Amino acid sequence: MKIVFTSGLDATHSDGWRQALHAALPEAQWLNPEDARSQGGHADAAVVANPPPGSLAGLHGLRLIQGLWAGVDRLLADPTLPTDVPLARMVDPAMSDAMAETALWAVLSLHRGFFVYAQRQAKQQWRAHLQRRADEVQVLILGTGSMGQAVFDRLAPLGYRLHSWRRSDGPHALALAQAQAHITINLLPLTPATEALLNAPFFNALPKGASLVNLARGAHVVDTDLLAALNSGHLRHAVLDVFHEEPLSTAHPYWRHPQVTVLPHMAAQTDPRSAAVLVAANLRALRDGLPLQYLVDRARGY
Ligand code: GLV
Repeated sequence: MKIVFTSGLDATHSDGWRQALHAALPEAQWLNPEDARSQGGHADAAVVANPPPGSLAGLHGLRLIQGLWAGVDRLLADPTLPTDVPLARMVDPAMSDAMAETALWAVLSLHRGFFVYAQRQAKQQWRAHLQRRADEVQVLILGTGSMGQAVFDRLAPLGYRLHSWRRSDGPHALALAQAQAHITINLLPLTPATEALLNAPFFNALPKGASLVNLARGAHVVDTDLLAALNSGHLRHAVLDVFHEEPLSTAHPYWRHPQVTVLPHMAAQTDPRSAAVLVAANLRALRDGLPLQYLVDRARGY
């Protein structure tokens, strides 16, 4: 089997992936797109991580494009991506665990006020605020995929009052859940239907003093609306791992905003050690004519 690997990652990360993939599927012939093209352009499958647009141009025979990222929004935005080849995304329990850890840290920090205590320490302020129980905190998880489910399962034993929402539940269910949500965690896929969902009407529907944790995509958020909601005091805090432009420009107001915690898109990284094994399993299924895992429905966008 000829498999093309292409990535827009730096050389160190790319080499790490190449080694992990090669070790997980040593029987395959791993090629970069240039080599595949110089050998006539045939490849059975492509494994891609943030590939530069047009990376797969000139290849033929592809029967699977396997993404290494959970989100496929960037791939689907590439007009040169072949539309007739099945596309699979990464669903790795190790990644879902990492996401659950990040969400747990954010929820605990918001619930118990640890972001505020960090600011008070910087000002040498010895002052405790009223303590709430976990069962007094309502958490709304947007997205019920593997990540949303992992976050739900990690938070449930702590006693938080959890609500999940996915787009097919409709706007009425969202409005009901929003009205109560002290903390909203966004884990939706980015599609034309969810882009800019986190906007002024969304924030206004949350109770005063609510917080947002965005662990999905920057384009879910209308930044000016979020800043306005924070500045007016309607929203208390935002934990943001993802942004419209990454890396976040040093001039962006989020960096210095006292009610914003900025993370460098690290909430859940794909781990080559576990992900390469999952990729190899999907490629072997392709070779053996077995069903493929985690295929993307291009019409839905995830
Ligand atoms: C990261 O954001 C991913 O989509 O895996």
